[in-house]
Amino acid sequence: MSRYRINGGRRLSGRVTISGSKNAALGVLAAAMAVDGPSVIENVPRVSDIDILLDIFALLGAKVEWQSHDTVRIDPTTVSNHEAMMEEVHQLRGSYYLLGAFLGRFGRVRQLLPGGCDFGSRPIDLHLKGFAALGASEQQISDGVIDLQCPQRLKGASIFLNVVSVGATINIMLAAVHAEGVTVIDNAAKEPHIVDVANFLNAMGAEVRGAGTDVIKITGRPVLPANKTYAIIPDQIEAGTFMMMAPLTRGDITVENLIPTHMEPLSNKLIDMGCLVEEGDDSIRVALMEHDKLTATTFRTMPYPGYPTDLQPQTVALLCAAEGSGRVIENVWENRFQYIDDLKLMGANIMTSGRLAIIQGGLRLQGAKVPCRDLRAGAAMVMAALAAEGETIVEGIETIQRGYENFVPKLRGLGAEIEEIEA
Ligand code: UD1
Repeated sequence: MSRYRINGGRRLSGRVTISGSKNAALGVLAAAMAVDGPSVIENVPRVSDIDILLDIFALLGAKVEWQSHDTVRIDPTTVSNHEAMMEEVHQLRGSYYLLGAFLGRFGRVRQLLPGGCDFGSRPIDLHLKGFAALGASEQQISDGVIDLQCPQRLKGASIFLNVVSVGATINIMLAAVHAEGVTVIDNAAKEPHIVDVANFLNAMGAEVRGAGTDVIKITGRPVLPANKTYAIIPDQIEAGTFMMMAPLTRGDITVENLIPTHMEPLSNKLIDMGCLVEEGDDSIRVALMEHDKLTATTFRTMPYPGYPTDLQPQTVALLCAAEGSGRVIENVWENRFQYIDDLKLMGANIMTSGRLAIIQGGLRLQGAKVPCRDLRAGAAMVMAALAAEGETIVEGIETIQRGYENFVPKLRGLGAEIEEIEA
């Protein structure tokens, strides 16, 4: 187990380049397994969740070949096994996309239930409801194994998602691209990575319309020839994490290689809090000038285009540094405040009640030894440590490395005093 040693109190400034989106990559790589020819995917983040997913693909018989640091070629035509029963499946959430990819392409899939961060219950009933509507005739979940079959080709259907779900929207899309006829997903999620997966599928020969709106229409095709190259979008959550580090440390950071419209919910809040936010074509500069006040505000997490739940822990860390009383309402996950106890260990004054957290800011946090409860909570711990007085040890950093590429070099490039040490 490795850990970070961080000495807080340094002002961060300079430029940082954002990697490809982890969550988009999980969907796009799974989509590369749903098509009928090889594809080359660029701007893939080199984080452990992606490495694990690609290991699973290779174990299933696909040819996976890195052509450069961030470009991978996937040839799914050699897949010989539709049973993803290896332990790796359990290590990440995104492995559930194999369900849709294989059900559509082969009419059969058997796999372990996915893992991922613990935010309370993480059901997949909507995914299964979608597969059933498309004609998956046998669905069994027992002993942590999901078994789906459809001996005939899947048939297009109208599917209403009564909860907006990123995973269900992508999974149903992955299955429906091979179905006979038209599938309509109503009340679909609209996150940037949904659009990215749809764009990838279209580039490979599919017909997916409306991604990024509430209604997605997929006209199934028997064969998706692929044989194309596609580049993944930048990571909205990594970008947001670095944007918040500027006001957190009273710094001046230009975050490069992002899509400014994806960042609007955060940019608007940072302006409300008193930050300078300057948008370029593919960059955003965030700064808090020396005599400017960082004022607390209220954040409510919502599906896109609302404020992303995956920025919630980092936002709470930022509100600890703001003056006044800030509020965060977590509308997506039932239990995503577990890490707040760790911030309290560092001296934070936070009260929680159900899905509400009230943060009394303006106190200087103190260095401490803290764990990473989940991926984004881990990033929040690093942020708290950067603002704190003295030394903080952040333990269990493998969790952070699941989703942040080159985190330490990027932070050091901005002037942070952080190093990775062996436990
Ligand atoms: C994805 C992201 C995760 C992010 C989340 C919300 C990946 C790999 N993970 O997770 O980082 O926090 O979107 O932006 O992309 N729900 C159901 N039934 C289902 C599925 C979901 O009730 O079948 C509920 C969940 O309990 C949750 C809400 O829908 O309350 C949103 O979940 P969903 O969008 O599906 O999250 P994930 O795709 O798992």
